[in-house]
Amino acid sequence: MRRIFITGASSGIGAALALYYARQGDQLALLGRREAVLRALSDSLPVPARNEGDEGISQAVTQAPAHSIYALDVRDRQALHDAAHDFLRDGPVDIVIACAGISVGTLTEELDDFQVFEAVMATNLNATVATFEPFIAAMKQRGHGVLVGVSSVAAVRGLPGAGAYSASKAAVRAYCESLRVELGPSGVKVVTLAPGFIQTPMTAHNPYKMPFLMPADIFAGKAAQAIDGGISYRVIPWQMGWVARLLRLVPDWLYDRVAVRRKRKPRSSAR
Ligand SMILES: NC(=O)c1ccc[n+]([C@@H]2O[C@H](COP(=O)([O-])OP(=O)(O)OC[C@H]3O[C@@H](n4cnc5c(N)ncnc54)[C@H](OP(=O)(O)O)[C@@H]3O)[C@@H](O)[C@H]2O)c1
Repeated sequence: MRRIFITGASSGIGAALALYYARQGDQLALLGRREAVLRALSDSLPVPARNEGDEGISQAVTQAPAHSIYALDVRDRQALHDAAHDFLRDGPVDIVIACAGISVGTLTEELDDFQVFEAVMATNLNATVATFEPFIAAMKQRGHGVLVGVSSVAAVRGLPGAGAYSASKAAVRAYCESLRVELGPSGVKVVTLAPGFIQTPMTAHNPYKMPFLMPADIFAGKAAQAIDGGISYRVIPWQMGWVARLLRLVPDWLYDRVAVRRKRKPRSSAR
């Protein structure tokens, strides 16, 4: 049994990862703002498998809740740290997945969008940092652990109408790369996942075509393989990996000509 801390567990990719790992017998901390949704998810998951040597475990412990839930806003750094320390009290943590994220259209000339821009950066980038912070010392001491950041193919080029989202996910990728090199000698791995288009509430109303759209449960299995392998950066599905490579090679003049016609994510107030 491994112990895994997952933000954004109440929906989409995070929920699919929670189900995947619970089926492997792992013990989870599930984070999101919607407590009732987290509780329903937790109640529906298989209970963690006991490790060898747990036979003598006390009745009180065997009756403890199988998975832990923490209803909080990931923009609240102290609340994240409190949740992490609470989960760490019951044992070391093997994998931390900073999956919480929001995607919303923004336009720089719309002054009201500045608050949205801040919310996107706070949720997608700053909260990734705050999610990892409390685990690093213990992982370094054990010489073991995986920190998982969630970037996006939207980070590869700046998408028109999604400046905040593209910038936040490019920042997540660069940040995770810095952290990977910093922690490499300690044995702690940093894995960056870059989803293409995955079927979740986030993409349910996208007004554009989504090539190679992948169900979230399939994504979760492939993501878990990358995490277990300590892969530094993995685009899923693999076809979008080739799209991403191509996008990087396309000269600006050609990218601009094609991207300007792309349908855009609608603007709205970030939650
Ligand atoms: N779906 C895709 O195609 C795709 C592509 C590239 C990258 N991604 C990334 O993958 C991650 C998961 O996305 P998804 O598609 O699974 O989206 P989703 O279904 O909308 O789920 C987003 C999750 O983030 C949580 N969250 C958002 N803001 C939060 C906040 N302030 N505090 C706490 N939790 C918060 C939500 O929980 P509550 O609402 O309960 O708070 C929810 O569990 C995101 O980082 C996203 O950017 C997704």
